[in-house]
Amino acid sequence: MLRSVQILESGNQSVFHKDGQSFLNFSSNDYLGLASSSELKHSYQQAIAELGVGSGASPLVTGYSAQHESLKSALTEWLGFDTALFFSSGYAANQALLLTLLSKGDLLLQDRLNHASLMEAGALCGADMKRFRHNDLAHLKSLARAERSTLAVTESVFSMDGDLSDIEAFVGVCQTYGMLSMVDDAHGLGVIGDNGLGACGISELKPDLLVVTFGKAFGLNGAAILCSEEMGQYLTQFARHYVYSTAFSAAHACALSHALTMIQTQHWRREKLLELSAEFDESLSGCAEYISTTTPIKPWIIGDATRTLTLCTSLRKQGVWTTAIRPPTVPKESARLRITLSASHHHQDVLMLANQLKRFSEEG
Ligand SMILES: Cc1ncc(COP(=O)(O)O)c(C=O)c1O
Repeated sequence: MLRSVQILESGNQSVFHKDGQSFLNFSSNDYLGLASSSELKHSYQQAIAELGVGSGASPLVTGYSAQHESLKSALTEWLGFDTALFFSSGYAANQALLLTLLSKGDLLLQDRLNHASLMEAGALCGADMKRFRHNDLAHLKSLARAERSTLAVTESVFSMDGDLSDIEAFVGVCQTYGMLSMVDDAHGLGVIGDNGLGACGISELKPDLLVVTFGKAFGLNGAAILCSEEMGQYLTQFARHYVYSTAFSAAHACALSHALTMIQTQHWRREKLLELSAEFDESLSGCAEYISTTTPIKPWIIGDATRTLTLCTSLRKQGVWTTAIRPPTVPKESARLRITLSASHHHQDVLMLANQLKRFSEEG
């Protein structure tokens, strides 16, 4: 079956409209519900009125503003890094890092479930790429080679499984074996750790390189690489996705700063997520397809791709939107619905979803 885009008529909200029907949206990465928050919309509108809509150039030309600099200060102070470079997407940030830092003769060690942006850049960068078994640090150690310049990469929260990596142990191994460490915190920042600090909130040790994205908990889009001053200087000179790409706008940087403050102060959003997550778990933990996670990502693993699509279609008829994920995006025989919860869901939305899933599971 060919992939195709879905045309939503009402933007990204917890309930959206398509072809005249309304759907409860359990497919969005807008975990904290910021994408449709009136507070954030208002802040973005004010910034647009004052600063306009486009940056007009790449950061090294005239695309970098005082608003970018202030976002950089807030982010680096919060997460404890020297500096940050902004990108138009997490895909671009990951590609920029791997393609700029690695070349022939280097070694790249990646968790085998890392995101496609990391795997693809790894395949393109010329380094010798090896994948370690998912979250298996003994395997990572066995692949380390002291004589080779090595970058090891993992995610904080795995996007298709919703499980966590042990960042502290990962960074510890990298330090012991003399490898540079990189963590992709796309699904962690804003959601996990005290005050939504993400990977940095669950580990005493910081990776050398942290990628955060703004299209998930921040409710917007864009991304940043956080790193040392020296690394930042190097990337500023040589990261082609940075040098040769239009910066996001000053108004966008303002909206991101506002989203950051909301993430830091509106604890109720994470508390609501925890409540919804507990309700989901309580209703469904007896079902064969259920996988327990401590994040808002709830994989519903069916195995067979056709059955997964049948469930997806049946849910849509009931006005519930989930996304079927099939191999090769996930390993063979592990087709699933990738269900995501958001602080903008109501308790009854989750119960409605759980009832539908339970019925399908019982029908076998
Ligand atoms: C782990 C991970 N890294 C990076 C990305 C890419 O981020 P963006 O959507 O901002 O390009 C994604 C996207 O879903 C992701 O799941």
